[in-house]
Parts: sequence; structure tokens; C-alpha cells
Amino acid sequence: MFRQRKKATRIAVSVAALVLVGGAVAVRSIGPAAAAETTLRAAAAKAGLFFGVAASPNRLYSMVSQEFGQLTPENDMKPDRIATSSGGLQNTSGADQLVNFAQTNNMLVRGHTLVWHSQAGALQGASQSTLNTFIGNAINRWGSKIAYWDVVNEALEDNNTGRRRNQWPHTMNRDANGDGDYFDSGDTDVIRDSFIRAKQVVQAGGYNTKLCINDYDVEGLTVAGGTPNRKANALYDIVRNYRQYIDCVGFQSHFNDNPNSIISSDLQANIQRFADLGVEVHITELDIDDDLSNNDIGSGQAENYRKVVRACLNVAKCTGITVWGISDSESWRSSERGLLFTGSNGSYQKKAAYTAVLDELNKGRNVTTSSVPTSGPVTSRPVITSAPVTTSAPVTTSAPVTTSAPVTSAPVTSSNPTGGCSATVAVNAWTGGYVVSVRVTAGNATINGWNVRLTLPSGSTVTNTWSATASGTTGTVQFNNVSYNAQVNAGQTTEFGFQGTGTATGLNPVCTAS
Ligand code: XIL
Repeated sequence: MFRQRKKATRIAVSVAALVLVGGAVAVRSIGPAAAAETTLRAAAAKAGLFFGVAASPNRLYSMVSQEFGQLTPENDMKPDRIATSSGGLQNTSGADQLVNFAQTNNMLVRGHTLVWHSQAGALQGASQSTLNTFIGNAINRWGSKIAYWDVVNEALEDNNTGRRRNQWPHTMNRDANGDGDYFDSGDTDVIRDSFIRAKQVVQAGGYNTKLCINDYDVEGLTVAGGTPNRKANALYDIVRNYRQYIDCVGFQSHFNDNPNSIISSDLQANIQRFADLGVEVHITELDIDDDLSNNDIGSGQAENYRKVVRACLNVAKCTGITVWGISDSESWRSSERGLLFTGSNGSYQKKAAYTAVLDELNKGRNVTTSSVPTSGPVTSRPVITSAPVTTSAPVTTSAPVTTSAPVTSAPVTSSNPTGGCSATVAVNAWTGGYVVSVRVTAGNATINGWNVRLTLPSGSTVTNTWSATASGTTGTVQFNNVSYNAQVNAGQTTEFGFQGTGTATGLNPVCTAS
């Protein structure tokens, strides 16, 4: 007998709840109860981000386009593969194959990479003008077929020094006024000049391509032991200063037992801090050592994958995650067994880490909207638009940094601006910690130095500061400008930030200009 099965009626529930977490407001969007997606690609797409993989032409199996919505050539677009010594192109067939596969399967491509000290091949030691030729040739070859280009890769030194590398191409840099940075108009900076060139090429060609800076050990606000992540802070300063040319930031995310390569609990806060500059943030080369027993946050690869995916999902402008290979045995670091599949040559088995990632993606975003009201120019001093190496018209200044919805009460303004400046704070808080962004605004005259004083609630301690020098860590703390943001023109602003433990309620910043 035929019995009609009753169809289970799925009740779509859409709830938006506002939850006050410390100083920030978390906006929870719980979408309709929907069937879980069964591939990483589909689950990520539903959550509004891409999930991609690094691959080579000999790995273009059908599972690649089923599981992944984005492709990064693992080696086929590196200068040692495709650049001639004069900046021309050669041997592009592998790269072409990858791009074609992505086009056929409607996948995004990340171009990797234009300016890098490693795998430079015939470009090793090249001048900026030759680099510029190569940048133009590479971008123009694939145009809008490349959604994101890593323009500059791994510019910063190892071991958490916060310095640029002291090897080519960074040996071209000149700190003309000796103030310790390369941000001044008289300075030479290969990062700036390469981005300016790339931006010109993208604009001239009318491409949609976004231009990214990519690095490793920049993922957390802190590294092991709670030490400030100076490399992340240095990257932040670069993006902040060159915001006009930089559209996206890649955190490579090769997590392992190195004290600077751990998954720290402030990963999300760091992603958020970059996102607040208005750039997209991507996890670009994810692999996680399956034995993180020396890591503060403990072992458990699947759980670690979950943490990373969740940190990205919780920041609206974290728009993509790419794993650095398909399976453990085919990985550049096979001994770490850091990927989502075992097996080889197209015959792959899903690991527990795969299931965890899929499950986390299927939960979707849970976005804590930023409480940092970013608008207007991000630096006091406009970024140089006519670098000595460029010949064509200067790049037009990009629109002001986009704001995420202002969700907290109005920022606190120092009531009585003294000495020609005022300051506002915006707090992004979580249980036990916070990040404060401070905006310094000059009055009706240019200032050449500034100090912001504020008093922290008891039990609160500053653990990390960027774009300012702090004196004191508890109670009343003073923040002084650093060399490159000392000068703020009339009515203009500059920003610095700090991270702390405890809470950051009732801050009342007092700005003094010098
Ligand atoms: C690695 C590749 O995976 C290897 O096959 C190659 O031998 C060396 O480079 N950071 C990067 C990537 O930006 O390009 C590197 O890829 C891994 C580290």
C-alpha cells in the first residue's frame, strides 16, 4: 500500500540579535535553517567567502573544482618560472593551464606572486624599473581572470623584529631622512613603488583585479607568551600608509610549533584590525601542523582548523580561505601532515580536519561588527602618488576607507582639546581583552608631534601598541607619536592602537600637541 510520507516542514527562522559584549556590539545573524552543504566550496559560498586551494597543473582533478572555489598556482606564476631577466614573460603554459581550469570551472584565481626575495629566478637583483616591467607584463597577461594578485610577498624579516628584510629587493630601500621608516616622500620603498605600478596597470587595463600584500607570522596580535607581534604591527603600518594602493592582505597561516607561527587567541582581533582599515583579509596558505604540542593552544588539528575558520567567518571583510595543497603527502611540508586530505594522485580521503572545516563553514558567519569608526584618510600624510620610478599619470586617490556599520555608542572625544589636537577612542572588546583604536585629529593648525593620555580601569594592562610608543602599562598611560605620524595637518587625522587585558570602559583620552 502506498503511504504518503509526510513532508517535514522546515520552519525558516531568521533572527537578528544584538548582544553587548564589552564595548562592542555583536550582531548575530542566524539565517534560515538550511540543509548543510556537502562541499567546502558550496558551504563557503553560502557563508559569503571563497574556500580555495594551491595547486599545480598535474593536480587538476575534478575534485579540485568540486571542493574548492578558488585556485592559487603553487609555483607556476612565480618569477623563477615565468620571468625573464628583463621583466618579460616566458614558460607561462603551466600558469595558463591553471587559469583556464579556473575559468572553465568558475573559480577565482589568486596570482602568486610578483615581488618576492625567494624563487626570483632571472629577476634576482633586478632594478625597480625591471620589476615594474614584469609587474605590467604579468598583470596584463591575465587581466581580470585574476581576482587577486599577491603583489609583494614576505617583505618582513623573521623572528618578530618588525623590520623589512635586509635582502633584495628590499636592499633598494632608502630611508632618506633617517627616521627609521620608508614612508616619507624622499624615501625609496620597493613595496610602495611596486604597488603604485601594479595599481596603474590595473587601472589602465580596466581590470577588476585586487592587489594584495602577503606574509607569514603576521596572523595574531601576539605571538607565543603574549609577546606583541611586531611583524604583524609592521604589516599593519604598511597597509595603513599605502591604503590607496593595497586592496587586500594575506595572512599565509602556516601554523606550526615555531613560537611566532602559533594560532593565538587574538587571531580574530588581528583580522578585524586590518579589516577596519577597509581592506579584504584572506587566509592565503593555510596548513596546520598536526602536532602542536608545544603550542600554547594545544594540539588537535581539527579543532585548530575550526578556530582559524571561525576567526575568519566572524569578520565580515575576511573574504577567503585558501589551503596550501590538497593532501598531506603532496604538501610542501608533508612531515607536518597539515592539510585536509590524505592520499595522492587524485585519490583522496577526507580527514577529521576536513569535516571540522566543513561543519564550521556550514554554521556561517557570526559577525561582530567593528566598533572602530573608520572614515576619511587613514594617515595624516598623504601617500606619495608620484614615486620616482613611475612614469605615467599618478594613481588616483582611492575613496575613503569604507566603514563597517557603526554600532556602538558614539566614540568618546576628549572634551577639551588642548594644544591643538583631540582624540577619540573606539573599543573592540572580547572576554578578558580588547583592542582600542585611537584617532588623533589636529585642530586648525598643523601639529608636529602629539601625546595622548588616558587612564585605564583597574585590572587592565596594555600588552601591545602599534603606531605609537607607550609609556606605562596600567593606570594612566601615555602614548606618543612615532616618527612617521608625528606631523598631522590641520583638520587631518592619524590613528594608533593598543591591545590590553581586562576591560577598557570609560576611557577619556586627552590629546596634547607639541
Ligand atoms: C612553496 C611551495 O609550496 C613549494 O612547492 C616550493 O618548493 C617553495 O614554495 N610561502 C609562499 C609560498 O608564499 O609561495 C611557498 O610555496 C610557501 C611559503
